[in-house]
Amino acid sequence: MIEWQPNSWKSLVASQQVPWPDPRAVDLVIEEIKNLPPLVTSGEVATLKVQLAEAARGERFLLHGGDCAESFADCRSASITNQLKILLQMSLVLTHASHKRVIRIGRIAGQYAKPRSAEAEVRDGVALPSFRGDNVNRPEFSESARTPNPQLLLRGYERSALTLNFIRALLDGGFTDLHHPEHWNLDWVAHSPLAEEYKRVVDSIGAGIRFMESLEDRHLDQTQCLDFFTSHECLLLDLESAQTRVVPRRSGWWNLSTHFPWLGARTGKIDGAHVEYLRGIENPIGIKVASDRSPNELVALCERLNPGREAGRISLIHRLGAHQIAALLPAYIDAITRAKIPVLWICDPMHGNTESVIVKSLSGEAISRKTRKFSHILAELEQAFEIHKSKGTVLGGVHFELTGKDVTECVGGARGLAEADLDRAYQSSLDPRLNYEQALEMALLVARRV
Ligand code: PEP
Ligand code: CO
Repeated sequence: MIEWQPNSWKSLVASQQVPWPDPRAVDLVIEEIKNLPPLVTSGEVATLKVQLAEAARGERFLLHGGDCAESFADCRSASITNQLKILLQMSLVLTHASHKRVIRIGRIAGQYAKPRSAEAEVRDGVALPSFRGDNVNRPEFSESARTPNPQLLLRGYERSALTLNFIRALLDGGFTDLHHPEHWNLDWVAHSPLAEEYKRVVDSIGAGIRFMESLEDRHLDQTQCLDFFTSHECLLLDLESAQTRVVPRRSGWWNLSTHFPWLGARTGKIDGAHVEYLRGIENPIGIKVASDRSPNELVALCERLNPGREAGRISLIHRLGAHQIAALLPAYIDAITRAKIPVLWICDPMHGNTESVIVKSLSGEAISRKTRKFSHILAELEQAFEIHKSKGTVLGGVHFELTGKDVTECVGGARGLAEADLDRAYQSSLDPRLNYEQALEMALLVARRV
């Protein structure tokens, strides 16, 4: 094996990298980012690794959620607040039901690059480069918008910093919305057959918080420090290695652009550049497990990325689909258990349940929309809990694509969103997300299982 360096991946094949028109312009931007201060600290990253090891043992539960693709336009006060609010509310619901401390990781402050299955997108006979996330190009279908522009990497780094700065300030200042579940937006509950149960849960969360506050005579968030971590897909390797640093009082190299980088399903070749890069950093890492990787290949990958079998280092995020999980997951669990590799098992019930439907747009034309059914998402999760239980392993976390906004991208849920509703507020430029109500309802349903 070659000797690891932050850029040793360059001698290997890197899939999903950007065909930048002017490579020298990219080098200049990368040099600039190398000299900017980091977004997170090695101490935070190390803390998360310890907590993930605890989740793997069933002592904590991980809630990992956010946009499929974050957009620059959403780097604004209301969007960030909504995103943080839904994740914190979901985590309170989960903590309440499970009596476990919940680790919160947002797919935020850097989720600006996406893998794409096709290099080009064709519309009416015109082919243009695919949209690869706001770090690379823009979603509008025009030559200028789709031409990769390295200046966007800098804009993305700055927006990540702005986002994190605001999140840290909100958490420091106490997030008052959290203390009064009676002010949460719960109108949808009336539509659920579980309305009574939900009301009881939310009331008792409120009562619990007020009780704690009266005991301590201060706000809950000061008595129980609200940790929040960030993650994004480790995709653009020039960018990731530019933010990979050594720090004064710790050994090793740390990716200080995020706490938790994850390896996507399209870039996970064991001999590929992404695995080479991730092998050498100290961060805890997530691995997406899709059906195209065999159980033995998964074991080999875990051994490559975690030869010392360090607890907390690897999280396996399976995304197999509601129709396939029962057939496929047991063999992965058996292989990892046999190899005695400590991992945190996480279920991503989103990516195996994506489908396209033809809907009528607001202007009347028929267009194709990607969507996911709430019932399929829930079905995959429920099976995941059962399968792990029957195997004696722990499902220690969930990974959702969601937003705190009132979008219409996934169908189903208590409000009964239908395909005909999709175009009312379909905002995602990539994968469909659970909206505020669907996300909170999902948390209430998952909470019964944790
Ligand atoms: C994602 O999480 O948005 C993603 C692209 O996932 P996967 O690699 O599992 O398809
Ligand atoms: Co996605």
